[in-house]
Amino acid sequence: MDATATTDTGAGRSAASITLQNVGKVYPDGTVAVGDFSLDVQAGELAVLIGPSGCGKSTVLRMINRLIEPSKGTILIDGKNIADQDPVELRRHIGYVIQNVGLFPHQTIRTNVGTVPRLLGWDRKRIKTRSDELLDLVGLDPSRHGGRYPHELSGGQRQRVGVARALAADPLVLLMDEPFSAVDPIVRARLQEEFLRLQATVRKTIVLVTHDIDEAVRLGDRIAVLAQGGRLLQFATPAELLSNPASDEVSRFVGSDRGIRRLAVTSVKDAMRPLGDVEDVDRPPKVPANGTLYDALAAMLTADSLNVVVVDGDRPIGTVSRSAIFEVPNEEAARRRDETTTLA
Ligand SMILES: Nc1ncnc2c1ncn2[C@@H]1O[C@H](COP(=O)(O)OP(=O)(O)OP(=O)(O)O)[C@@H](O)[C@H]1O
Ligand SMILES: [Mg+2]
Repeated sequence: MDATATTDTGAGRSAASITLQNVGKVYPDGTVAVGDFSLDVQAGELAVLIGPSGCGKSTVLRMINRLIEPSKGTILIDGKNIADQDPVELRRHIGYVIQNVGLFPHQTIRTNVGTVPRLLGWDRKRIKTRSDELLDLVGLDPSRHGGRYPHELSGGQRQRVGVARALAADPLVLLMDEPFSAVDPIVRARLQEEFLRLQATVRKTIVLVTHDIDEAVRLGDRIAVLAQGGRLLQFATPAELLSNPASDEVSRFVGSDRGIRRLAVTSVKDAMRPLGDVEDVDRPPKVPANGTLYDALAAMLTADSLNVVVVDGDRPIGTVSRSAIFEVPNEEAARRRDETTTLA
C-alpha cells in the first residue's frame, strides 16, 4: 500500500501520518498507564494495538485525540504537534469508534451520522447527501435505515452506523477502540471483511485496538504488541510477527497456533516453483496468484491433491506442493510481504 506522506483515497481525500514520541500517562492516582511509548504510523496505514487488559491501549488511543492529555512526550499528526491545536477542532478531524458504538439513542440514524458535519456547519442538504452516501458505503440502505432509531437496528448494523458516523466529515485519522467486540463471531467476521473493503476505498490512517489476535492479523498492516504500562514489545507486519516473534513474551501472546495463522498471511508465490514439475496442469486444484498458503493447503486437502497450480486469471504460472508450503523460510516470507506492502 502507499506509504508516502499523504495518501490519495480515490475520492480525492487524504490521510495523515501519526507519530508518538516518548509518550507517557500517569493518572492522578499515580497509576502509570503508559510509561514511555513511541510509534510511527504511516499515512493510509492500519495499525493495530494489541495487548492484555489494562496495558494502556485505550489510554494511548485517547491521547491521540486529546480525550486524555499525556503526562509527557509529543504526538504529531502529519508532523504537527497536536498539543498546539484546539482539542475540539482537532477531534472534528479524527473519527472515533468505540465498543457499543455510543450512538445517540433519541436521534435517527441519519442524524447520528451527520453529527460532525453539523458541528462543522455544513448545510442540511450536504449533510443529508453525505449521510446517505456513508450509510450506503457501510452497507445500509439509507431509505430503509436512515429514519430509524438506534434501538431499531441490530448490533452489527449499529456498529456500521458507528463507522459511518466516524467517517462522515472525512477525517484524516480514524481511531477505533475494540469496534467489533460487542457482536457475535459470525457478524464480527462479516463486519471485519466489509471494513477491509471500506478501508481499501477510503484509505484512512487507522489505529485500531483489539484483544483478538485473529482480528489483528486479519485487519492490520502492522501490529503493535503491548505489555503492561504500554511497553511496546514489537511493531511488525502480521507475517513478520507470526514468523519471527521478537521475544518469548510475544510468542506466548500470539499463540501456539501461530504457524497456521502464518499460512493465512503468506503469499502462495513464496512457495511457488516452475510449472515443469507438474505433468498435467489441468488436474490439480487452482489457486489464484494473490492467494495465500492457507488457500493452497485448503485446496489440496479438499481435492486430496499433493499440489496446486497457481493461476494468474486463467494462465497457469507455477505450482505449489504440500511440502513446499512448510519449507518457506519465515524471514523470507516476511521480507517479501514487506516489499509488496511498500511497493503496491
Ligand atoms: N481515569 C483513570 N484513573 C486511574 N487509572 C486509570 C484510569 N483510566 C485507566 N486507568 C488505568 O490505566 C491502565 C491502562 O488502562 P487502559 O484503559 O488504557 O487499558 P486497556 O489496555 O485499554 O485495557 P482493556 O483491554 O481492558 O480495555 C489500567 O491499569 C487502568 O486501570
Ligand atoms: Mg481499553
